[in-house]
Amino acid sequence: MKTRVNNITIAYDDEGRGMPIVLLHAFPLSRVMWAPQAAALVRAGRYRVIRPDLRGFGESGGAEAPATMEQFAADTLGLLDQLGIERFVLGGLSMGGYAAFAIYRARPQAVRALVLADTRPQGDTPEGKAGRETTAQMAEREGAAAIAADWLARFFPPEVNAPAELQERVRQIIMDNDPRGIAAAARGMALRPDSHGTLATITCPTLILVGDRDKITPLSDAQAMASAITNAQLVTIPDAGHLANLEQPDAFNQALLSFLGAL
Ligand code: MLT
Repeated sequence: MKTRVNNITIAYDDEGRGMPIVLLHAFPLSRVMWAPQAAALVRAGRYRVIRPDLRGFGESGGAEAPATMEQFAADTLGLLDQLGIERFVLGGLSMGGYAAFAIYRARPQAVRALVLADTRPQGDTPEGKAGRETTAQMAEREGAAAIAADWLARFFPPEVNAPAELQERVRQIIMDNDPRGIAAAARGMALRPDSHGTLATITCPTLILVGDRDKITPLSDAQAMASAITNAQLVTIPDAGHLANLEQPDAFNQALLSFLGAL
């Protein structure tokens, strides 16, 4: 489905009926990455799953605009307002988690529960910010294929042991993105604030998920978030790296369904 939000096209899937669950994707992927979770939640029969392509990704527009986490938050809340959804469970993986913090800051009362997967509260270090600019320029000069090669190596180092078929699927998701959108989000992530202060304000039930082999947002980040959020539980996904939802969908879905079932 497509709609206009904040003067750009936002593409999204809206499936199932029941408690609204909003899922925000990682960088540099798209809403397609949540397909295994959307299928499991819809099959459970009690959830309405809304997964947008963040601006500049997938089939959404706005690739040329700055893509701060606050902008992603404004776009997502604008979409949810159009859909008449006032309260929802909010889930994000990695960059999706950074955007989830911004949504929580903007409208905490709207968040029924949080799912923070393979993400972290801290902003980028100076080296990290420089790396974002390198990524942005690589996207602009060499296109999505170069970004896919670079990020596949980060997501799937040898110890993650991801099947070739999964790596190809992720490559395709990245390749389907507009390189300008990738560049905009890389620069937007460099601007994101530290969210440690936000953690202390989170009062809703929170599920923290992390792949035990995640090297990008490792277990130590997940543990730090779990101890800073009052009502948090941490579940480690065995034999998974950064894209735990795609690498071990069954274990990820089981943790998600059991958390949601207890709300
Ligand atoms: C992601 O998966 O969204 C990215 O790895 C986030 C990041 O680069 O910080």
